[in-house]
Amino acid sequence: QTPDSWIRRNPELIRLTGKHPFNAEPPLQQLMASGFFTPAHLHFVRNHGAVPRVDEETLRTWTIRVHGLVSHKVTFTLQELNWLFETVTLPVTLVCAGNRRKEQNVVRKSLGFDWGSAGLSTALWTGVYLADVLDHVKPLHGQAKYVIFEGADVLPNGPYGTSQRLSLAANRDKGMLIAWAMNGLPLEPDHGFPIRVVIPGQIGGRSVKWLRSIEVASYESNHHDNKVLPRHLSPDRARAEPAWWYDPGYVITELSVNSAITSPAHGETLDVSQKELESGDRMYTLRGYAYSGGGRRVNRCEISLDEGVTWFLCKIEYPEDQFRRMVYNDEVLGTLDLTGSDNSFCWCFWSANVPVGRLVKANVIELFAMDESMNMQPRDMYLNATSMLNNWLFRVAVLGSEIE
Ligand code: MTE
Repeated sequence: QTPDSWIRRNPELIRLTGKHPFNAEPPLQQLMASGFFTPAHLHFVRNHGAVPRVDEETLRTWTIRVHGLVSHKVTFTLQELNWLFETVTLPVTLVCAGNRRKEQNVVRKSLGFDWGSAGLSTALWTGVYLADVLDHVKPLHGQAKYVIFEGADVLPNGPYGTSQRLSLAANRDKGMLIAWAMNGLPLEPDHGFPIRVVIPGQIGGRSVKWLRSIEVASYESNHHDNKVLPRHLSPDRARAEPAWWYDPGYVITELSVNSAITSPAHGETLDVSQKELESGDRMYTLRGYAYSGGGRRVNRCEISLDEGVTWFLCKIEYPEDQFRRMVYNDEVLGTLDLTGSDNSFCWCFWSANVPVGRLVKANVIELFAMDESMNMQPRDMYLNATSMLNNWLFRVAVLGSEIE
């Protein structure tokens, strides 16, 4: 029995931290097979503690208090939020800051647990723009600088909370949502039922679940999960330790450019005949995903089969683009409109055709992505104490099994 025993969970999700709290990622191949949108039962989950239990009465009386440096302090019920503001739906990929941490942990154990490369998922999120809510309460000009969110879960270091710069939060194009639905259905308990924040382009930890309060302030959130946990520290202990407590420059917000090879899987055995090994006749399609942060698009993915001597370009597909061409209105999902925004908040898929013989002969298959600001994944592992934003080159090795 755990405090979450009342929740029905998909047994196919891979648990990463024992029985409790629930932290899980889908099997990578299943995540990819489900395509651009991840169904809720396969969406990765990151919970720091027990999921708040919301019965009918709690739901009826659930409110979000908007307070602090604003002209009108307001406490919204869920219905009021729905009535007062335009309903919008956006496709957003959430990524945990620890995605790919397992790779570092096998080299040098970090403080965090072993995320594989499936610590990310994409959903259609429905709710209202945070910018519209802020516009309604009128932050005090000149004084208000940050927006602080707090969730209802009770944790040993106080409630879960994070903050955003007001200048970003007040901008609709940044796509920040107060969301009550995922893929057209009410949120699952693990994903923040009844209501959560969705912050596109930043680490998943910024998207506070079970939202209770929004405070407009002159300072950043002092929550443990804003200031202490999501840090990217130096590998050098002497520099890392003081920074752990004092240096706001180490706090992570935007995602860095990253990518993964999903086919073939690391260690997979590919069948290949002697003739194919020599002739290069049969092609294999390498596949995987890539993403970047801050609304930046990935503009390049490259593969090397000779440990970085030569690289070749992969084809990139942005399924999100189909939404860019449409303005869509629906009673439940509201407006779906990315036509006006330059920002891109979803993963893309890359592919490359390579003779199977060459794959089998390669010691290692290496991949990197570059984004539109020419940020590129680094060659080497940056060993950091928390192992966040693990985005060195993605590498897999395959074996060949000779067939007649
Ligand atoms: N919000 C609350 N209230 N409590 C949490 O434990 N975890 C955060 C974020 N929001 C968390 C939270 C982290 S670290 C991540 S990566 C995302 O939620 C994960 O969202 P998901 O579980 O819906 O995938």
